[in-house]
Amino acid sequence: MIRINNVSKTYGSGVKAVDSVTLEIPDGAIFGFLGPNGAGKTTLIKLITGIILPDKGTIEVDGTDILKNPVEAKKKIGFVPDDPNIFLRLKGLEYLNFMADMYDVPKSDRSQDIKVLAERFGMQNALGDQIQSYSHGMRQKIILMGALIHKPKVWILDEPMTGLEPKSSFELKEMMREHADKGNVVFFSTHVLEVAEKVCDMISVINKGKILFTGILDNMKKFAKTDASLEKMFLEMTNA
Ligand SMILES: Nc1ncnc2c1ncn2[C@@H]1O[C@H](COP(=O)(O)OP(=O)(O)O)[C@@H](O)[C@H]1O
Ligand SMILES: [Mg+2]
Repeated sequence: MIRINNVSKTYGSGVKAVDSVTLEIPDGAIFGFLGPNGAGKTTLIKLITGIILPDKGTIEVDGTDILKNPVEAKKKIGFVPDDPNIFLRLKGLEYLNFMADMYDVPKSDRSQDIKVLAERFGMQNALGDQIQSYSHGMRQKIILMGALIHKPKVWILDEPMTGLEPKSSFELKEMMREHADKGNVVFFSTHVLEVAEKVCDMISVINKGKILFTGILDNMKKFAKTDASLEKMFLEMTNA
């Protein structure tokens, strides 16, 4: 469960990137966070993951307050940022071990888990190479693997499908479903509407920092009083 209560964030530049957002995402759900570029998606994700602090409001991750108990809350989160260009000088395997150390994953569990993850993403033969030698898609995959190594209760992924080839994108969607079906939460942002339409149990549409709609797609159709595609409704709602 992720519980966001009346959260706002204005940057120093004066841009109100997140404006009085309230959201509750239940266990067992894949939640899609939709909005055009600059809508405030990444900002809200940075607030949930404790990377930046809100001006007001509270955020709970699986019952733990990210402001009051940041370390405990962060341990429950697997976070995939939108930019995978990090730790470029580490080898893939070194990076995964580093993440496992950070999240206190016992050494005995690791090699089997890494093997399973590597097979799903076709990364078996790349783990001995430096991340800087990887393609964009491979960098994304190693970050994904590193975020999942501690089997977090809550997955938070910022535009995770961008740049993934079809097979890995398919695997990721399957993994998201499996994770949610075990009673966990998957929260991901996207501006690719087809992805949201296919995999989400629940969506929110955000624009200019404000949530315009939260619910299931069928209700969005009623809300928008149309039987149009998600794309058409989205464009109308966000005036894009
Ligand atoms: N570090 C920052 N400083 C100032 N303004 C920012 C910063 N990060 C984002 N913004 C602004 O906040 C708004 C929301 O950005 P962002 O959360 O990145 O949107 P999205 O992820 O939906 O594209 C945009 O207007 C953006 O220019
Ligand atoms: Mg973003």
